[in-house]
Amino acid sequence: MSPIERDKRAAAAAAANLVEAGMRVGLGTGTTIAPLMPALAARGLKLRCFASSPATEQAARAAGLAVEPFEGREPLDIAIDGADQIAPDGWLIKGGGRAHTREKIVAAAAERFVVIASGDKLVERLQPPVPLELTAFGVQATLRRLATARLRGGPVSPDGGVIADWVGPVDDPSTLDTWLSTTPGVVEHGLFPRALVSDLVVARNDAVEHYSLSDRRRWI
Ligand code: 5RP
Repeated sequence: MSPIERDKRAAAAAAANLVEAGMRVGLGTGTTIAPLMPALAARGLKLRCFASSPATEQAARAAGLAVEPFEGREPLDIAIDGADQIAPDGWLIKGGGRAHTREKIVAAAAERFVVIASGDKLVERLQPPVPLELTAFGVQATLRRLATARLRGGPVSPDGGVIADWVGPVDDPSTLDTWLSTTPGVVEHGLFPRALVSDLVVARNDAVEHYSLSDRRRWI
């Protein structure tokens, strides 16, 4: 196992220990989250799990977790997910695995959103690409309006959205967040604000560090 895989596994195991019996748990998508499912199942707790992608749903069920369709009538107690990039000010880029729309809905529905990562995800500055999900209707008009975005190719999202990437600058995430969110045809983008994140669990150099974002400590 590579050091990064070891770190992902360690971060996932630490996050699994934050989950308590009876919780409604949102599950993210990706290779960092993959070891979370068996780690959670191994705890033997009675849980209600909600997956952010078909792949996660399948993996969670295979691990023996009870997964329900996500409607969101009640808040989730906790959601746990990975990230592509984590900036020192807490902004994230997510969606490398095409699941950012559902991931953001699940994260926003949770009372506690825990981001888990190996150390390579910590960056000094966010860099493009920022994943986008666009409506298939009028996709070329949306791309023309965005100007610096390109289609990624590959399958559409589970909700029929076309996956693309913003490849322009990400110097000011807050302004870009507003611009992307208000561009017609953009279903969702992969910039996640610090305000959404409750905790960061990062594993690097064989040690796990847990930051509560309310304490405003920097991790770089
Ligand atoms: C999927 C995501 C993932 O959390 C992100 O891409 C990180 O993936 P990985 O854990 O495989 O490095 O946002 O849409």
